[in-house]
Amino acid sequence: MLAIQKIRNDFPVLHQQIQGHQLVYFDNAATSQKPKVVINALVAYYQGYNANIHRGIHTLAEKATVAFEQTRETVKEFIKAGSTEEVIFTKGTTEGINLVAATFGRKFIKADDEIIISTLEHHSNIVPWQLLCEATGAKLRIIPINDAGELDLEAYEKLLTPRTKLVSVVHISNALGTINPVETIIKAAHKVGAAVLIDGAQSAPHLTVDVQAMDCDFYIFSAHKVYAPTGMGVLYGKKHWLEQMPPYLGGGEMIKEVSFEKTTFNVLPYKFEAGTPNIADTIALKYALDYVQEIGKPAIAAHENQLARIVSDALRSIKGLRLVGTAAEKASIVSFVVDGVHHLDIGMLLDAKGIAVRTGHHCTQPLMKRLGVEGTVRASFAVYNTEEEVLYFVEQLEKIITKLR
Ligand code: ALA
Repeated sequence: MLAIQKIRNDFPVLHQQIQGHQLVYFDNAATSQKPKVVINALVAYYQGYNANIHRGIHTLAEKATVAFEQTRETVKEFIKAGSTEEVIFTKGTTEGINLVAATFGRKFIKADDEIIISTLEHHSNIVPWQLLCEATGAKLRIIPINDAGELDLEAYEKLLTPRTKLVSVVHISNALGTINPVETIIKAAHKVGAAVLIDGAQSAPHLTVDVQAMDCDFYIFSAHKVYAPTGMGVLYGKKHWLEQMPPYLGGGEMIKEVSFEKTTFNVLPYKFEAGTPNIADTIALKYALDYVQEIGKPAIAAHENQLARIVSDALRSIKGLRLVGTAAEKASIVSFVVDGVHHLDIGMLLDAKGIAVRTGHHCTQPLMKRLGVEGTVRASFAVYNTEEEVLYFVEQLEKIITKLR
């Protein structure tokens, strides 16, 4: 059992009234709240040792560089990467995927090659590949799903051919919560020589991730969903790919030597980190990951899954309410629609009771189309949510539905 009240005290933002009600924050799949250790790390940097990194020999620059690189070590341990050379800092999951599309794409994807994604993907794991296909003449293939929101693995196996150069799939669906069998997907892709990118935006906060055991070629996540600041993320890539890939952005930091005739590039991971990075937020990420590790991901996941179970079971008995996404393997995301009631109205009325959920297509329009809905109401849980909150949510939701009908 988690010491929830103690954990809640670590998150200042939770202790406020919204429209006259205690805040109930169930929009954690969009972004999670930040514990005091993370906020304090930001303040400590700006108040105590704000300086640019890797460049100065003065004391503050040295201190900032050490703290920044310490996060790389922590991330390496967090995802069990083989070395810190394989840990690249980005602006977030979207930038990480675009980086791979632009650089792996430029080097390895040619006309008539194929890239496989799935129906479950977030727009950020669709559009970069569409742009790449447009530029190269490669083709995009889509793994279908069943009505529960699970990948059709037989169809996937049939899509794999020697033309497949890359498979890019989400680990946990942000809209439905489906946990994909990534090990099976990766093994099958490797048999035809394709590399695999795993979009870990939703899995990094909830699942224990071991990129070497998983054997993915790329694993990407955002800091802000793991209790760290926004505008910061991580791209893990196997060293042999990163070494062969051309740089993404050109500028300072990513070079070894520049002349007007020829420029040579820095070693990994700096080859992919042009310009002054997001120093404060990167430093703060270490504090967020340490916080998660201290509580323990299995304990966090067990707690969140229990809350999701209570909500799903209760919602099943509401007439006219349909759960969207009923995969056997699911994370703590509950999506639903209600007959004759618009999801936006439900979201607004929940907000009037202090409850924050996300409504809409969740940046997964092709998935919504496949499931025959325009959007859903989505509740997603984090370590600081309580049983009392989910019972309050169910009670308020029932009242709202009765009122709107
Ligand atoms: N991708 C994030 C979400 O699902 C923003 O809400």
